[in-house]
Parts: sequence; C-alpha cells; structure tokens
Amino acid sequence: MGGNRRRRLCQVCKSKGIRREAVVYMKEHRLALCKEHFTQWFEKRVSETVKEFQMFKKSEKILVAVSGGKDSQTLWYVLNKLGYNADGFFIHLGIGDYSDESMEKVKELGKKLGKEPFIVGLEEEVGAGIPLLQKLVGSTACSICGRLKRHHFNKVARRFGYKVVATGHNLDDESSSLLANLVNWNTKYLAKKYPVLPEENGFPRKVKPLVKLTEEQIKFYADLNGIPYTSRTCPMGDTANLHFYKEIMNTIENHSVGTKYRFYFFYLKKVFPLFNALKEELTEGTLRECKVCGEPSPSEVCFVCKLKMKLGNNSENAKS
Ligand code: AMP
Ligand code: FES
Ligand code: ZN
Ligand code: ZN
Repeated sequence: MGGNRRRRLCQVCKSKGIRREAVVYMKEHRLALCKEHFTQWFEKRVSETVKEFQMFKKSEKILVAVSGGKDSQTLWYVLNKLGYNADGFFIHLGIGDYSDESMEKVKELGKKLGKEPFIVGLEEEVGAGIPLLQKLVGSTACSICGRLKRHHFNKVARRFGYKVVATGHNLDDESSSLLANLVNWNTKYLAKKYPVLPEENGFPRKVKPLVKLTEEQIKFYADLNGIPYTSRTCPMGDTANLHFYKEIMNTIENHSVGTKYRFYFFYLKKVFPLFNALKEELTEGTLRECKVCGEPSPSEVCFVCKLKMKLGNNSENAKS
C-alpha cells in the first residue's frame, strides 16, 4: 500500500468508464482506488470477514472493546455503518494523560455515532490503576493489563447481556503474534489463536473482524472518514518485542508481497485445527467460577480478586 506517487486511476471507476484519480494503491491486491471505492472495499472486507467466520448476526448486540486507538475506533464506527448493533466499552487504566486522552477520543466517537460508551475505571473497580498495580505485582505492566482487560470485557458483557465482544486486532497484530508464538512454540496460545473464539464457560464469544485488514489500511480508512483516535502509545507498555516481530513481518512482506496474509490464513486453515484438537491439553483446562466475584477463573479465586485483596479493598466487591 502507499500513497499515489505514480499517478494511477481508480480501477473501479475506470471499469465504469470514469477517469478518477486513485488515492491509494494496495500492492498486495494490485488495486488502485479512489476515496469512495476504497471506503466501499474496506467495509465489504469487514462484512465478508464477519460472515466467513460466523462472528455475529445483525440481531445480536455486540460489545466493541475500544481503546481510543485507530483500530478499535474504526471497528466501532464501521460495524455501526454496516448496520450492526455495536456498543463501545472503554477501560480507563489509570495511566495519566494517556488514559484521559484515549477516553476523550472514545467519547468523541460515541457522540458522532449517537452512542454512549460504557466506561469503567480500574481505580474505581480494582482500587488502583496500572502503575500502582505493576509495583504491587512486580510483573510487566502489559501482562497485568491484559488480564485485567479480559476480566472486565467478560464482566461488562455478562452484566449488560452481550454475548459477543469484538476487539480491533488487525492483520499485522495477528501475523506478528503468530510468528512470535511459533518461534517460541507457545502452544497454549496457538491453540486459541483464531478470529472467533466461541462462547464457553461463562465467557462471551470473542471476535476480531479486522483480521483481514492491515494497520496501514485501517489508518487510511480512519483518516479518510474523519474517525477520531489517539496516536499515542501506552507509556507503560513494553512493546519492544511486539515491534520486533512486526518489523520482521514487514521485512518479509516487502520481500514477498502477500506473505502476511498467506502466513496467517494458511495457519488458520491448515495448522490451527491440529492445535485446536489438543486444546484441552494445551490450555489452562477447565475454568470455574471465582468464589468471590463469580467470573470465570482457572483457580478458586480469580487474579483480579487476589489483586483487590492485596490492596485491601475487596469487601464491597462480593459476587455481583
Ligand atoms: P492491545 O492489546 O492494546 O493491542 O489492544 C487490543 C484490543 O483490545 C484493542 O484493539 C481494543 O479492541 C482492546 N482494548 C485495548 N485497550 C483497551 C481499553 N483500555 N479499553 C477497552 N478495550 C481496549
Ligand atoms: Fe496495557 Fe499499556 S495498555 S500496559
Ligand atoms: Zn473509484
Ligand atoms: Zn474474582
């Protein structure tokens, strides 16, 4: 993909006998499109992904986990544009200006869509934001943050009757994390790496409708359509590893166009079923209800309740 250094015409317009300059050329699809036809192409690709993986139907309520960044904001916008009943849900992580600015972008998009997002704050829900929790637990901010996010996605979905939670993961995220997990033979993760994970053990269905779109395409769509988003990255996150694998994937893609897509989708088709058949052995095993909050957990008391206990404010959060 890229700008339009060499002047190209939109191929869809051209097929209708109209000469209109393209705003984008996607190398991997050998496709030059104008604004209108890129927007249509993008939305069709999301719609096809939803249908191909049977992610959800028009009759279902979808909870979109929105971070304020370009991917999830675009997802919330595009699902509504396609006529799905999609509501936004934001977790304020208590990471100073970064969380405040992200929340503002979520609210701004909510106004544009005429939808009030659900917002929960870790400081209120757990008793502290990520910076303090990281000090308390001593592991990386990202690992605590990931577990807290998953817990709250499930909790809010259950509380408000959503059977589906959608996240903004894109092709770059999925292909690079597949590579990282293969390199490290992280079989536990590989057994769950699919764009739709079914509803089970009290967990809502998890879906990733943007898996066929690259970061660049999403950013382009967001900018063309005036979708508000923050470009800031989390100051706490240790993203070096993630970037490392994304760069490797980009290097391979530049060497051989279309590899990202082939690598990931070939895996889904040919290899994932093998890992998935061993899911029981490879993953955490059966989940049960946390005896304090009732959320699914591999242990008697879930990670979040243990954190609250450590912070000494667990009493008001008995099973809701
Ligand atoms: P990340 O792990 O930060 O790349 O985020 C992956 C996905 O999780 C995003 O595309 C969002 O759908 C969701 N997400 C990340 N951060 C938040 C947040 N603070 N609140 C709600 N959803 C989030
Ligand atoms: Fe989770 Fe930064 S967003 S640690
Ligand atoms: Zn056109
Ligand atoms: Zn719990």
